[in-house]
Formats: sequence, C-alpha cells, structure tokens
Amino acid sequence: MSLDASNQPDFAIPTGVFAETVTSIEHYTDRLFKFRITRPASFRFRSGEFVMIGLPNAEKPIFRAYSIASPSWDEELEFYSIKVPDGPLTQHLQKIQPGDTVLMRKKPTGTLVNDALLPGRRLWMFSTGTGIAPFASVMRDPETYEKFDDIIVTHTCREVAELKYGQDLVQALKADPLVGEMAHALRYYGSVTRQDHDHTGRITDLMRSGKLFDDLGVPPITPEIDRGMICGSKAMLADTKAVLEGFGLQEGANNKPATFVVERAFVD
Ligand code: A2P
Repeated sequence: MSLDASNQPDFAIPTGVFAETVTSIEHYTDRLFKFRITRPASFRFRSGEFVMIGLPNAEKPIFRAYSIASPSWDEELEFYSIKVPDGPLTQHLQKIQPGDTVLMRKKPTGTLVNDALLPGRRLWMFSTGTGIAPFASVMRDPETYEKFDDIIVTHTCREVAELKYGQDLVQALKADPLVGEMAHALRYYGSVTRQDHDHTGRITDLMRSGKLFDDLGVPPITPEIDRGMICGSKAMLADTKAVLEGFGLQEGANNKPATFVVERAFVD
C-alpha cells in the first residue's frame, strides 16, 4: 500500500491488520452508504463472510463486523454500511473519501456460506437494512446457481429509497460476467414497513400470513426443498429464525450443515 503525504494514518497500523485504500463511495440515503476498498493480494474469503473494519484514527482503533458485499472473485472489496450520527465507527466512516485508508483485520469468518447448508432445491436469503450485504456477495457467486435451482432474495427496509442498493445489484446481475444467464434463477422481493409500496410489511409477518408465498406464486417453505440464510438486526434474526423453525427448518453451522443459517454481522 502507498499513502501520499496528505493521507498518512494518524497512528501506526496494528499488527494482523491490512491498511487498504478507499476507491469509491456512494451515498444512498442519510442513513446508508456503500464503499469499496483495494483488496490485499493475499486476502481470500468465501462469499457471504464478514471481516472486522476500522479506521486508523486512534492508537487502538474501533473495529466492527462488516459483511463483504463483493463476490469472492472481485478485485476490490465492497461494503454496505449504515450511518449512525454518534456511532463509534460509522460517525467517522461515513465521511471517508477516495484515497483514504481503511483498516481490515486479516481473518474473514461467518456462517452465511453455502458450505453451512445441506443441499436443497431452493435458497431463501432473508435480509433487512444493511443485512443485504452478505447476499450481495452470495448472489454474485456462480456457485450459488450451481447448487440451487431457485434463489429468492428478500429485502425489507423502512423506506423505499433504502431498497435501491439491492435493486441495483439484482438489475446488474444479468450483465454480470460470471452469473449472466443463470440470473434468471434469482427472484427479488423487496418490502417496506414505513411507507406505501407494492409490498409492505415485516418479512416475518409476510411469511406467517403466507402473503410472501402468494405474491411469489410458490408453495410455503418445507425442509425437503428449502434452505435459508438470515441477516438483519438481532431482533429480526431471532424472529425470522423462529418462523423458519416453525416451517421445520433447523439451524446449521460450518461444522454442522443444516437447513438454515443465521448471521450476526451487523453494525449498530
Ligand atoms: P419496522 O419498520 O416495523 O421496525 P432497521 O432499520 O431498524 O434495522 O429495520 C429494517 C427493517 O427491518 C424495517 O423494515 C423493520 O421494520 C424491520 N424489522 C425490525 N425488527 C424486525 C423484526 N424483529 N422482525 C422482522 N423485521 C424487523
């Protein structure tokens, strides 16, 4: 990594940490933004994993878990973040500019990976807010399309503007060099809870009422066919997990694959 004189980190880079350069930033709303950083040549990860991110602005930087939103083959690393006005990390992170330095711990981890699921026919990815980030990675990984016939991504946000990041991703999939034609297997279902929209309501309520399945024209979830991944706030994870268990699915992990997996990588 090279830094010019105007962009020297204020403190020494801690050991076990990569110091990478911001390449682009896009602000979606006053609560959400995406940023991309250079990828260290030696850094490997599985689509869906998360990593700890910080800034070189203190001797002991604050790190938070961020899902890697780019697929494992991407030359850069993409992250999708909330902005919290007095959030220990995000109050500073939301101000980064191209050329700035972002710190990243070297070891990725996480359970939202294909390996933690038993083989199945249909994959559901349930997300709220920035919880769509790991699925941005999984939906751009050709392996996902090799393993499942049908892929459904649900994204629920408070407002319509917060759906844009996911909608743009899905829109771009058909032109993706590695996914291309396979993208027809993926369906996207966006809903909002605090504005009028085609689809309104929490994903948990939409599943309990059956509206989600009716809207998509698919049968309800069964353990024989369906596999699930869940990413959102703590409360959303717990409630969605309970709904999937109600359909007979069981939580799995890397060392014990089962029929659904839950992530806890979110920033608050
Ligand atoms: P709601 O507007 O009813 O709170 P947040 O930005 O707070 O993380 O919320 C993102 C989305 O997740 C919102 O649409 C929110 O709905 C929804 N949500 C919040 N808590 C839960 C939960 N326990 N189960 C399902 N969805 C939830």
